[in-house]
Amino acid sequence: MTIAGKKILIAVSGGIAAYKIHFLIRYLIKKGADVQVIMTPDAEHFVTKLSLSTLSKKPVYSDFYTENGTWNSHVELALWADLMIVAPCTANTLAKMVNGICDNLVIATYMSAKCPVFIAPAMDLDMYQHPSTKKNLDLAESFGHTIIPAESGELASGLIGQGRMAEPETISTQIEAFFNENSNQSLDGKTVLITAGPTYEAIDPVRFIGNHSSGKMGFSLADEAAKRGAKVILISGPSAEKVSHQNIEIHKVVSAKEMFDKVFEFYETIDIGIASAAVADYTPKMVASEKIKKNDESFSIELIKNPDILKTMGEQKKHQFLVGFALETQNEEENALGKLHKKNLDMIVLNSLRDEGAGFKNDTNKIKIFTQTDKKEFDLKSKESVAKDILDFVENQYLK
Ligand code: CTP
Repeated sequence: MTIAGKKILIAVSGGIAAYKIHFLIRYLIKKGADVQVIMTPDAEHFVTKLSLSTLSKKPVYSDFYTENGTWNSHVELALWADLMIVAPCTANTLAKMVNGICDNLVIATYMSAKCPVFIAPAMDLDMYQHPSTKKNLDLAESFGHTIIPAESGELASGLIGQGRMAEPETISTQIEAFFNENSNQSLDGKTVLITAGPTYEAIDPVRFIGNHSSGKMGFSLADEAAKRGAKVILISGPSAEKVSHQNIEIHKVVSAKEMFDKVFEFYETIDIGIASAAVADYTPKMVASEKIKKNDESFSIELIKNPDILKTMGEQKKHQFLVGFALETQNEEENALGKLHKKNLDMIVLNSLRDEGAGFKNDTNKIKIFTQTDKKEFDLKSKESVAKDILDFVENQYLK
């Protein structure tokens, strides 16, 4: 899938950077994209519909209603698009987007859009630094939108700093890269469930038993599966990682029990299940309702076994293809193969904590993959590349 022939909806809001949109339209059209422009009423103070429609070769809309008494359907515009880019995105438009304040055609179209959304913010230095802007950009990112950060330089106010909209060439290159990256749609129509991150098992209202899992491996897998066209259900324990693809539906949980319940809400409907979470094997038998005081010289907590999520998935397996992870410190291969059989898996990914750069907290991983009949060893790579290797292997086994 390349950008040629793609339908790109550009939503212009009212900032001085709107003048750069003419160049963006030209770059996109030169690459063969089909461009439709809409704008907020305020954007008309900065650029004219005439110049934008001349370049995009289509009428430009800013209102729900036309002079002839007909209306511009925001739903049709939204569903037409393969990608929507809000550029420049002012602080006001950003705030309306993330809060659902639907008082113009741009926001109504945005809220009806099912396609990927890109945001190129542009505002003055202090507005860009303001906590509300930062929070709103984080929120937009958590919705799976792609932020193309503002660049540093001289601003219209004369101040110097970050706030200038990214250059049109940068924006069009990112849009093109997005379509190139998503050109492999090998998992289109498949639903992939991924567990990720640690689980926290409460001891009292302020303490828990946890582990060092960052969630990065699971989030990288979710991202890669989504790029390949899968619908991804990501069930994650506490993690600072963020989702970055709109095909990912994220469900945040805390304990192993919550993760178990969430997995089995979806289990029947999935095609592929990948258990990358570092689930706590045990949980405190009793959770103290008040903070435990240090009254005694020694203190013990009775732990009971948590449900084994992946093992239960294996027991209830019908059509699902199941992938497990094994993190081992000794007898690695033997233990991994043992888990493959015991949990009724189709594939297991082994990391050895003896390999430098592998495991929990690192950005890299070194894996071996085993199936009932096959074995493959990989080099130390970034977790994004490891996710590609794992999904290539899954596809080889599952789609063959
Ligand atoms: N797993 C799970 N639920 C659990 C424990 C583990 O779903 N309660 C999954 C993990 O996500 C991983 C695989 O099972 O994919 C292996 O987990 P691991 O803890 O390494 O194996 P265990 O079977 O718990 O064995 P042990 O801790 O004794 O090595």
